[in-house]
Amino acid sequence: MANLNKVDELIKKVEQSIKSPKKVSASDKLYVGVDLGTAYIVIVVLDENKQPVACEMKFAQVVRDGLVVDFIGATNIVRELKKKLEDKLGFELTKAAIAVPPGTGERDIKTHMYVVEGAGMEVVSVEDEPTAANAVLEVENGVVVDVGGGTTGLSIFENGKVIYTADEATGGTQLSLVVAGAYKIPFEEAEEKKKDIKNQDEIFHIVTPVIQKIGSIVRTHIQGFNVEKIYLVGGTCCLKDFERIIKKETGIETIKPLNPFLVTPLGIAINCASKENV
Ligand SMILES: Nc1ncnc2c1ncn2[C@@H]1O[C@H](COP(=O)(O)OP(=O)(O)OP(=O)(O)O)[C@@H](O)[C@H]1O
Ligand SMILES: [Mg+2]
Repeated sequence: MANLNKVDELIKKVEQSIKSPKKVSASDKLYVGVDLGTAYIVIVVLDENKQPVACEMKFAQVVRDGLVVDFIGATNIVRELKKKLEDKLGFELTKAAIAVPPGTGERDIKTHMYVVEGAGMEVVSVEDEPTAANAVLEVENGVVVDVGGGTTGLSIFENGKVIYTADEATGGTQLSLVVAGAYKIPFEEAEEKKKDIKNQDEIFHIVTPVIQKIGSIVRTHIQGFNVEKIYLVGGTCCLKDFERIIKKETGIETIKPLNPFLVTPLGIAINCASKENV
């Protein structure tokens, strides 16, 4: 794996680019990654040195289990985020990379592409999500686990190559649902409560069983493979002590980068840059 400090430095730059975009000039090539998730649509823009220049995101329920369920809604949001980024940067975004969960069929991949093309960008690369995340992590051996809103996707890497992938329908939405149930509050309120670090000690015991379930999903899938490290990405892993429960459930060293939420979108943008430079 790339040095974790280096990974964290790069993620920190993406975080900074949300509030203060980097200045770019007309001669700069811009690379775009669009992550259409179950919970969030995120766009990351990099310059030609693969350095973060801008990032926009929006909570949206237009994708379910990795499949686009609201085509027009999804296209409108991508268009809106693209426009915001263009206004900030002063330049048009024309090409983008995307990623889909492992095992997504041809037709569903096309739908993802049409969303981004409908919003006015040519799709230059389609990868599976954990592979995209690994453009940031550069894991040679181990499992990358992406715990998003709707699903937990995992890819096992051996000598830098994917040898096994899986995707299961458990994710952050389920954590919010148990919080909503426990406090008798609406889902949206539970979602906010869960994400606020101030509440995460208080809700810990409520969400622990769902995290243990995610840990058992990981344990089941890696059985029979020689996996020595787990690398966590995806918004749900932001939760305080998430990595501790996964380590306890699996007995395997578990590594969580700074802000796992941004790893996959950043990786998709890196893939856009790599595709364009060949
Ligand atoms: N700081 C945080 N603490 C806890 N959970 C968080 C935090 N930030 C985001 N999440 C949760 O992460 C999930 C979204 O993560 P992510 O953006 O990786 O998913 P997605 O890509 O939209 O979904 P999927 O990969 O399942 O299609 C949501 O359930 C959200 O509540
Ligand atoms: Mg995702």
